Amino acid sequence: MTSQPQATRAFTDEKLGVGILGAGPVTQAIHLPSLARLRNILEVRHIMDVDASVAESVAARVGATHSTSMEALLGDPAVDIVAICSPHQFHADQVIAACKAGKKAVLCEKPFAMNADEAARISAVSQETGVPIIVGAMHTFDPGWLAAEQNWGDLPEKAHTLRSSIVLPPNARFEDFATEIITRPASGTPDYSDAEVIKNMMRGGIMGLAIHDLPLVRRFTPDFEDIEVLQARHVRLFGYVISLRTGTRTIELRAAMNQTWKPEWTFEAISDNEALRIEFTPSYVHAGSAVATFTRGGETVSYGPFDHNGYEGEWRELAELARGTKQPPSAQTLIDDLTFALVIADATVDSVAAGAHA
Ligand SMILES: NC(=O)c1ccc[n+]([C@@H]2O[C@H](COP(=O)([O-])OP(=O)(O)OC[C@H]3O[C@@H](n4cnc5c(N)ncnc54)[C@H](O)[C@@H]3O)[C@@H](O)[C@H]2O)c1
Repeated sequence: MTSQPQATRAFTDEKLGVGILGAGPVTQAIHLPSLARLRNILEVRHIMDVDASVAESVAARVGATHSTSMEALLGDPAVDIVAICSPHQFHADQVIAACKAGKKAVLCEKPFAMNADEAARISAVSQETGVPIIVGAMHTFDPGWLAAEQNWGDLPEKAHTLRSSIVLPPNARFEDFATEIITRPASGTPDYSDAEVIKNMMRGGIMGLAIHDLPLVRRFTPDFEDIEVLQARHVRLFGYVISLRTGTRTIELRAAMNQTWKPEWTFEAISDNEALRIEFTPSYVHAGSAVATFTRGGETVSYGPFDHNGYEGEWRELAELARGTKQPPSAQTLIDDLTFALVIADATVDSVAAGAHA
């Protein structure tokens, strides 16, 4: 074994400590593998879960302290960055507590709030404390998306059609892990004739699944405040087809779990003379980045795959934010992304309700 060069030693001595609230599948299958690849800059130091046995066993895998109390983790001086990976209903309060504890940066898994009131409270605390917050919308940190951003020129102003399409397999475990359905009935077959069930599934689909790519859609929709739902349909087993429009854009959001199995996750932005298509890897997959392809006239140019995806991208960004080497994203951007999702969720649920009474 070779000894470490001095320069590396100095750098690793400045590792940033990570504390994680909630140690379920996302922590175990997404964040710990991503952090393992970044152990020269980040070190998992504290794992908290309300289930003591989960906290203990997950912490043991990474040699971290464990606890069942958020206060213990936030009071741990070894923790510089807090990741919130608990169920969605706890996110807003935990983000606020982490900011108030004076941590250097906060990652909140999506959705970071479930209503406008929570979003406003987060915004106020973020301004008051100045602690940088990022939301785990991993596609916005994917090098394939970032390469598209570098090369898309005026496409965000000129695009007239936007599509987010998500196809995932029906296997229950993969489905639950990969799609974050947040309002699925606990067991059994849902009663598809019950409008309330459908409304809940549609809201869950938007706030749990579509929300991954709504920040992407919003970048290409300057008049997003004028959004209108043209059609919203639930697709069995679980999925949706939602058509939206603004004054200048048509937007299609589709998700399906069906027997085709082959996962596909794409985002497209199309103008009169240009098309951008981005193919993302499915959730939980650590196999390189998205690939972005531009078609202009007869010419096709692709960017990627790069060596890492948005999950690792999030952690690289957090390290820079915690070190102060990068400007934090404005809290307003996060609030606007959330508001965009909430507006679509509310309008979709209203549209489903109107359809049920037609
Ligand atoms: N970015 C992605 O690709 C992706 C994918 C799936 C889920 N998610 C999001 O990640 C989050 C976690 O997902 P999951 O599937 O691991 O969730 P989960 O509900 O299966 O597990 C979360 C863990 O949090 C623990 N917990 C419950 N209440 C808690 C509290 N108050 N404080 C701390 N821990 C608590 C539970 O015991 C459990 O171990 C969710 O917000 C989900 O929306 C993101």
